[in-house]
Amino acid sequence: MKLNRYAIYILVGAIFIAIGVIVGLTVRVFPVAASAEAVAVDSLFNFMLAIAVVIFLIVEGGIIYSIIRFRRRPGDETDGAPIHGNTALEITWTAIPAVIVFVLAIYSYQVYLTIRNPEPKDNEVRIGVIGQQFAWKFVYEMPEDNDPNVTPELRERIKQYMIDSTLYVPLNRPVRALIESQDVIHSFYIPEFRIKQDATPGRVSEAYFTPIEKGEWWVVCAELCGVGHAAMSQINRVVVLEQSEFDQYIAQLYAKAKETASDPRSPEVGKQLIMNKYACGACHILDDAGLVGNIGPSLNGIATRAEGHAERGEGLVGGTDAAAYIRGSIVNPNLYLVPGYAAGIMPQNYGNPNVMSEDDLEAIVNYLLTIR
Ligand code: CUA
Repeated sequence: MKLNRYAIYILVGAIFIAIGVIVGLTVRVFPVAASAEAVAVDSLFNFMLAIAVVIFLIVEGGIIYSIIRFRRRPGDETDGAPIHGNTALEITWTAIPAVIVFVLAIYSYQVYLTIRNPEPKDNEVRIGVIGQQFAWKFVYEMPEDNDPNVTPELRERIKQYMIDSTLYVPLNRPVRALIESQDVIHSFYIPEFRIKQDATPGRVSEAYFTPIEKGEWWVVCAELCGVGHAAMSQINRVVVLEQSEFDQYIAQLYAKAKETASDPRSPEVGKQLIMNKYACGACHILDDAGLVGNIGPSLNGIATRAEGHAERGEGLVGGTDAAAYIRGSIVNPNLYLVPGYAAGIMPQNYGNPNVMSEDDLEAIVNYLLTIR
């Protein structure tokens, strides 16, 4: 009789464990595992899921069994048996979870060490990730260039344009993401890679991943960063490319950056200067460049308004066209004041070529002429 009961315990236990193993091996609750790190994270999760299923079956099975087996029979008015304590049982239900927690702790720590390994790898790709309200941008390393016309100074300028709003990564190569923020805390998150890392202003954080599947997914922001936070998760894509496609992409990006940098008065350069070099965004709104200041007049539609000012001859410097109005507003801002804005708030020293070079000024004018 006693032997029989233990045989039943073992049989039921074996069935529960079998169900747990099957669930752990087959049920998939996460999106596709597209990085080597995702595989490690998922195997840890599935291991925990299998254990949880076994415990769930034991607890819920025990409850259901007891409800049926020990229910009150008709005419039974007695109290239940007065049972107090069972040392063997208590030791068992403390010892087994302790072992489980200990095993899980070691296993998770191993997975953590695998996915958070800052050791430089031989063939790693380094990509800058910059969070800003409310989009990501990605900074790529420059390829080698044997062109003798590319001076170190020009190369420095080219570097500023190795930026894209899409994250391209090569298949099967370790990626080191160097994550920064331009404003508030964002969180760089790619669910398919199981990688999440805060972007904190004032420091560079790192994340590591090796894409193992070709595809295209969203780069998500996982930190409430302002009114545009929700939208920030559906702006930038991550695209996994073959190595050859990635090389081709970098070559194209570099060629474009070189072209931009070689033409220092181009509108594209002006945009970069407005965004990065001069603090226009502290006071002006300009949607195209993501400027959100609200101290001075908005620059949205400035080219159209500049044409009207040019026709009326207001605030012109160095010409009679729309460009002359924009140039005048920068180098001699008090010449014409937009109604409602006081004199002297706009910096007065941009007419000084040591503060703003002729190239920079023209690039900014050319850029603002495209803002209709
Ligand atoms: Cu950036 Cu949320």
